[in-house]
Amino acid sequence: MSEKQRCLSGMRPTGKLHLGHLVGVLENWKKLQEEYECFFMVADWHALMSEYEHPQALQADVYDNVADWLAGGIDPARSVIFRQSDVPEHLELFAVLSILTPLGWVERVPTYKEQLRELQGRDLATYGFLGYPVLQAADILLYKAHVVPVGEDQLPHLELTREIARRFHFLYQRELFPEPRALLTQAAKLLGTDGRKMSKSYRNAINLSEEPDAIRRLAQSMFTDPLRIKRTDPGHPEACNVCHYWRVFAPQRADVVWEECRTAARGCVQNKQELSDVLIQVTEPFRAARARFASASAMQRRIEEVLQDGAARARRVARQTMDEVKRVIGLASVGSAAGPAAPR
Ligand code: TRP
Repeated sequence: MSEKQRCLSGMRPTGKLHLGHLVGVLENWKKLQEEYECFFMVADWHALMSEYEHPQALQADVYDNVADWLAGGIDPARSVIFRQSDVPEHLELFAVLSILTPLGWVERVPTYKEQLRELQGRDLATYGFLGYPVLQAADILLYKAHVVPVGEDQLPHLELTREIARRFHFLYQRELFPEPRALLTQAAKLLGTDGRKMSKSYRNAINLSEEPDAIRRLAQSMFTDPLRIKRTDPGHPEACNVCHYWRVFAPQRADVVWEECRTAARGCVQNKQELSDVLIQVTEPFRAARARFASASAMQRRIEEVLQDGAARARRVARQTMDEVKRVIGLASVGSAAGPAAPR
């Protein structure tokens, strides 16, 4: 057994990954591999909860996302990379936790009402979607994770997970789960090319697997300092999204770029052209990872191998936790591997 603390995180396969995922998630996951025993999960059941009416893209997104994970340095030799639906114990624990989670707790999760409002065009008033954070709690507790790297929007789900763990411990008088901590990502928010939140639904994202031509086009469409109208006007880099990208993707050159913008030594067109070069370089590993394979199906086969190996490793842990859970809640049959509960 590893002495490292355990880390679990997940991502829903609902579209291609973009630069925001690189700085907000992948770089963080990559570092965590050094300090923790990591489990990284493709949350396909969670994706289905919102995309069930049109699940056609789901499978392709799974492969595309994992291709980016691998290209971004998530290492299957160190971390367990798996697909949620390959480990049926997630649903088993989800059922157990659903039984003991009071309805009021899930109804008041703020993300629930928000998502109902935001994910327009989908009917999310379903029985399953209400259970979204309970399934997430099952994901985390199944591996007895100590830490969960997430964005700020996920904090209510972490809080609910802790409450559910406490309720389980209180009901059955057994401390089965460590109380998981959120590891908040420190990275500054990356805005989309139009200055709004980067999101595929706004069509303002630069995908990690984007071709160089497309990156140039997207960079040229970026908003700059609105007060800089003429080429000779001094710029305000702090108010310019392009200058902010320089800070994020080429910090060693950002001071010079910012100064040249302030003094009008550099124009916005040049600034975007040179930023394109930087972004093309930053995204090179993601294109190269795909180019290594003769075809999309060859890449999928390789990724499927990674996922199957990950699922086998994940299941060993998941099975053990479920055996314990079943014993504690009185579901294990006498003489089963789990064995009967201690006589009361
Ligand atoms: N709800 C998370 C999101 O949308 C994805 C997720 C599912 C997750 N299960 C998880 C994140 C477990 C952390 C731990 O980003």
